[in-house]
Parts: sequence; C-alpha cells; structure tokens
Amino acid sequence: AKITYHHADGNVDSLDAEAGMTLMMTAVLNGVDGIIGECGGQAICATCHVYVRDEYLDGLPAISAAEEEMLETTASPRDPARSRLGCQLTAGDHFDDIEVDLPDEQD
Ligand code: FES
Repeated sequence: AKITYHHADGNVDSLDAEAGMTLMMTAVLNGVDGIIGECGGQAICATCHVYVRDEYLDGLPAISAAEEEMLETTASPRDPARSRLGCQLTAGDHFDDIEVDLPDEQD
C-alpha cells in the first residue's frame, strides 16, 4: 500500500505501508512531521487527525463512537466529510493507496 501525506506547507511524503499498519503508525515510524499519535492508536488523543482526499473516502470504515468523540476535540477544525483519525485506518484492511492532507496543528 502507498500512503501520501500532504503537509500544510505543500511538502509531500509518500511512503510504502505494510498491510496491517495504520496510517498513524506508518507516519510515526518514518518520522513524518504533522502526525503525533500520542496515545499510540487507542483513539483517545486526536493527534493523528488527517483530512482524507475525496477520491479515497469510498471504502473507509464507518466512524466508531470513540473516533467520533475524538474528532470533536481536534486542534485544527474538523472537516465533516474528510476528517478521520489516522490510527483507525489500516493498510490492506481499509485502503490500498490513500492520500491525506495534514492539518496545521495536532495539539
Ligand atoms: Fe491517538 Fe489516533 S493516535 S487518537
């Protein structure tokens, strides 16, 4: 799977992600700025907030109650259609290739 992270300043990181790895973990393990993942993927910190590009929204899992609650607390504004927690999106299970925009702020 390939994950492309578009930074707020226009820079782009494009990474290969192993099946089973989340969008958050792939960023953290590869030192991608703009995703913190403070809670380690438990959906209790909202520092892995991303805006999924429109063409990749189809096929993503429904937002769980825990994710919904966290999306109400993001540092940068939530986009009703595109905001997700990167720790809840798993390569292989939920997407093959995906592109996301990173918010200005995560905390
Ligand atoms: Fe904490 Fe995703 S890493 S909510």
